[in-house]
Amino acid sequence: MKQVTVSAPGKLMIMGEHGVVFGYPSLVTAVDTRMFVRAEFIDSGKDVIVAPQVKESRFVETVVDLFKEKFKIEQVVKIETRSDFLQTVGLGSSSAVTVATFRALADLVYRRLTLREIFDLSYQVTLKIQGVGSGFDIAAATFGGVIYYLYGGKKIEKLLTKRLPLVIGYSGVKADTPALICKVKRKYERKKEEIGKIFEEIGYLVDKAKRAILNADYPLLGRLMNQNHGLLCRLGVSTKKLDKMVEVAIENGAWGAKLSGAGGGDCMIALVDKNKRSLVETAIERVGGVIIKVDSGADGVRREN
Ligand code: PMV
Repeated sequence: MKQVTVSAPGKLMIMGEHGVVFGYPSLVTAVDTRMFVRAEFIDSGKDVIVAPQVKESRFVETVVDLFKEKFKIEQVVKIETRSDFLQTVGLGSSSAVTVATFRALADLVYRRLTLREIFDLSYQVTLKIQGVGSGFDIAAATFGGVIYYLYGGKKIEKLLTKRLPLVIGYSGVKADTPALICKVKRKYERKKEEIGKIFEEIGYLVDKAKRAILNADYPLLGRLMNQNHGLLCRLGVSTKKLDKMVEVAIENGAWGAKLSGAGGGDCMIALVDKNKRSLVETAIERVGGVIIKVDSGADGVRREN
């Protein structure tokens, strides 16, 4: 019987988090921790989903229902997921599983979906389940690479760049992204002028950082990351632990460092020259961070068999 295996990568926000929800630009990267989805037809009364994480299975179920309804598929399918993701660290397992399941189902029924179609359908699923989000994680899982990104996929520009020399440190605390997005939104509604100005500044830094990435000017990119972290602190989304990890990374020679994602926990990233890497990693570990070994610029969704 025909079976299809597809994989999609995780993601990291490089710069521009929160501002991106309000229409400002962001920079994101796909990372090489991957989600694998296997799809096949089965002779059974109803679809079977084998996804080890409850969170993932909700996304898979929604994709299967939406796909079958949209393309009028009546056969029964079995979907199995397997992943390299550590569930807790916030590298985007939900977006990867959503994107990979759409592509696997499309291949199973010989229906060609463009990357843009996969992005649009997957973003619909994110909004249905989470209610909020810019869709940057879906763009990374679909297109891969390093991306200049605007809310809802208004712009998805893949940047021609080498792998970024990043060190990633997990803070040990799971972040609640939808809750943090809502917290920032409420803050914005209370203090439109002040918070709006912070978003504007973040957008300005992101545009400069885009050029720094294209020129591989890492000292400049590092300084911009530091400034971005300062603005995120002013938004009130950083934590003592993240601040400490960022601080020691810089003290130990990183070009720059910042929290990555919604804040409140999850990960920080530091941009580090290769001969300072182990020094920075050790410093982050000494303050209680966990180093996550992943590379940036990974391939987007792809067929594995
Ligand atoms: O927490 P993460 O890694 O999913 O990143 C959230 C980034 C935000 O800009 C706060 C939200 C979004 O959907 O862009």
